[in-house]
Amino acid sequence: MRNLRFLTGITTSGTPHLGNYVGSIRPSVRHSLRPGVESFYFLADYHALIKIDEPARIQRSTLEIAASWLACGLKPEQVVFYRQSDVPEIPELTWFLSCVLGKGVLNRAHAYKAAVDKNAAAGNDPDADVNVGLFMYPVLMGADILMFNAHQVPVGRDQVQHIEMARDMAHSFNHRYGEHFVAPEAAIEDHVATLPGLDGRKMSKSYDNTIPLFAPREQLKKLIGSIVTDSSAPGEPKAAEGSTLFQIYQAFASAEETEALRQAYATGISWADAKQLVFERIDQEIAPMRDAYQALMEDPAKIESILLAGAAKARAIATPFMGQLRHAVGLRPLQTHATATTKAVKQALPVFKQYRESDGQFYFKLQSADGKLLLQSGGFASPKGAGQTIAALQTEGITALANSPVALEKGPGVTEADIAAALQALQQAKQA
Ligand code: TRP
Repeated sequence: MRNLRFLTGITTSGTPHLGNYVGSIRPSVRHSLRPGVESFYFLADYHALIKIDEPARIQRSTLEIAASWLACGLKPEQVVFYRQSDVPEIPELTWFLSCVLGKGVLNRAHAYKAAVDKNAAAGNDPDADVNVGLFMYPVLMGADILMFNAHQVPVGRDQVQHIEMARDMAHSFNHRYGEHFVAPEAAIEDHVATLPGLDGRKMSKSYDNTIPLFAPREQLKKLIGSIVTDSSAPGEPKAAEGSTLFQIYQAFASAEETEALRQAYATGISWADAKQLVFERIDQEIAPMRDAYQALMEDPAKIESILLAGAAKARAIATPFMGQLRHAVGLRPLQTHATATTKAVKQALPVFKQYRESDGQFYFKLQSADGKLLLQSGGFASPKGAGQTIAALQTEGITALANSPVALEKGPGVTEADIAAALQALQQAKQA
């Protein structure tokens, strides 16, 4: 059996923080070391362009994120670790996919809808300040995933809709052009904690409440010191439940260590002492990686070459696959013989034929794929009447047979089951 392929992208729009570490980097790195999985990690720098127009920030963030993943133990020789913009097949696939996806699907995408709703609430034009990149975001993400036929995409709940859309694109493309894509699944990471930030809300850039993953020791201490607590005095018992500091500790400590802090809370540890303990515990895990991070940050050429090597591995898959897809859609050298693959499949279905007889009435017949007469209608006064009966047969199947206003006769030797099967084949082809 083929290895299970995991793939995830990290938008290069900021500096990694402890929330990213606990929620994504740490579990992903551990996961990537497991046997039997093939992991793809990439820096989604095309995605970053949607919201950031400061070139220096894009470049800096790309460097910081790459250095962070490597410092946290990602083994570039065991995974495919690359930069999205080094794989030109991805934007090419984005175009292919945008030609099989309904625009209405994108109208319903959360991020786009939120922007439109915000404009509406402010009385602005619905699309004010919305770039086409934001609108197309899910298609680019679909191309990221389908390019490598990833089975599983570890994402947070907010990204599940995007995975659904990628499945939609895979199905639409496969239906038109044959089986090329695996429909990906979201691997929702509910078991990994979302870390609260300094103010107790989810740690996030947008709340400005983050602790940078590789803040120098002194700064880390200061930031942990600034985590909000209640005003209980030293000696007063404190509740672990609902304590931001406690939750952050829990994400780093063992079960026994966590229990010990719970006891200390109950017996009135001071906030200052608790913060010192949390700081030391986090620093113990981060400090060795911090040194590796500093060394990497001082050697961007090394990271560049790691990413280029990763891109070469990615393109070893993407380039031939894209060639296959180009051929499938008909972007082919002109001397190659046209092979009407999917059209041939379509013609292998039964067909309805409508026609007018010399008596001035309108008729239809249903023929099997090889031209055998399955069903013959009597005369309808109008083409509309014939069309309505055909539509009813197509949507309701065999049950519509009895409701026809005009007699319908089975072809010679044809049973009702044959007709039911033909109608079902038509219905399935429509839904696929
Ligand atoms: N949209 C993801 C995020 O904001 C980043 C991303 C881009 C991604 N392409 C992807 C994640 C493909 C998974 C798979 O976090």
